[in-house]
Amino acid sequence: MRSSMKAVTVREFGDADVLRMEQLPTPSPAAGEVLIEVHSVSVNQTLDISVRQGGYRTDLRFPVVLGTDPAGVIVATGDGVPQARCGERVSVVASMRCGDCRFCRMGREDSCPRSKHLGLDRWGGYAEYVTVPVENVFPIPDNLSFGEASVITRHFPTAINLLLNHARLEQGEWVLIMGAAGALGSCGVQIARHQGARVIAAAGADSRAEAAREYGAEFTVNYREQDLEREVLRITDGHGVDVLFENIADPTLWPGAFNSLAFAGRLVTAGAHGGGTVPLDVKRLYLKRIRITGQPGATRKDVELALSLAGRGAVRAIIDRTMPLEDVKEAHELLERGGIIGKIVLDPTLG
Ligand SMILES: NC(=O)c1ccc[n+]([C@@H]2O[C@H](COP(=O)([O-])OP(=O)(O)OC[C@H]3O[C@@H](n4cnc5c(N)ncnc54)[C@H](OP(=O)(O)O)[C@@H]3O)[C@@H](O)[C@H]2O)c1
Ligand SMILES: [Zn+2]
Repeated sequence: MRSSMKAVTVREFGDADVLRMEQLPTPSPAAGEVLIEVHSVSVNQTLDISVRQGGYRTDLRFPVVLGTDPAGVIVATGDGVPQARCGERVSVVASMRCGDCRFCRMGREDSCPRSKHLGLDRWGGYAEYVTVPVENVFPIPDNLSFGEASVITRHFPTAINLLLNHARLEQGEWVLIMGAAGALGSCGVQIARHQGARVIAAAGADSRAEAAREYGAEFTVNYREQDLEREVLRITDGHGVDVLFENIADPTLWPGAFNSLAFAGRLVTAGAHGGGTVPLDVKRLYLKRIRITGQPGATRKDVELALSLAGRGAVRAIIDRTMPLEDVKEAHELLERGGIIGKIVLDPTLG
């Protein structure tokens, strides 16, 4: 292993030009950690784009190496981790729980208030190598590529946590998936379908909504052209949706989505990239017994379920394209422009 590695750094907030390819010292795994040779890492809307722009967390210590969901091969281990683990193909969960708070002790590490994040609080996977605590790595099923493992480990657990643990989506219920062609949305469609729900996929263009049919949507709506509430009521024969997988918080889209909820409907969200501040019709909320749950992240069980579902082909990663790490600036600009179906994956071993 070389003593230095190529990595993409951010040393100031700004547009994609602040992403710089640099040589940094290859990190060594501390006790309880592993060193991973990175084969894939995906580009994320909030944790890469917004962080880089200075729109998410401004308390970061530069240089930051972004990259929350690397997957690759263990090439070295720190004290307390058997060397025999070298050679394992693993994906990584970005959130590092404290292990000590009441949420962690209850197995609810998705709510740990002291958790640290890979790619924010320590160098992430936009690099040839990354170190992570061994408890954050998960074996990749043999039939999955590294890129697929990155996407599955990053987004499916959140979709599982929101739809199954919190919304308690049941077989036969109606669900509306917003941003259905996006990274999290494409996972939401598949988890809902796998649960036996009836899936309405909504997106900002006909072609993007239609794309969701390929991975499980039964009906589609273009929320930029059609009246979302009216379409949902038409499709569901006046019932509305039992569950709304929202995750956007665009003030122009929110009312149509919210008004699509049926009596005793559940709205779940882990995202606000569409603006974040939305009008809330509280009268409708209580009269219709609607519940809203905000819950980012996932638990270990959700990650294990996601990888096992993908391993047996029940769900799949939707990858728009894979690019060399050198093309990171172009990858960020592509995601910012919109129109991507699923994910962009970066591969530091290419090019
Ligand atoms: N662990 C977690 O809690 C977790 C994990 C992953 C993501 N998230 C959150 O979930 C949200 C979605 O993330 P993602 O990775 O799926 O992003 P993404 O791939 O970019 O998808 C987001 C989708 O939102 C739609 N959209 C609608 N209105 C928009 C607007 N005003 N601006 C931008 N996009 C708009 C876009 O689709 P159309 O063009 O078709 O409308 C886009 O495809 C983000 O807020 C992210 O932070 C949370
Ligand atoms: Zn904790």
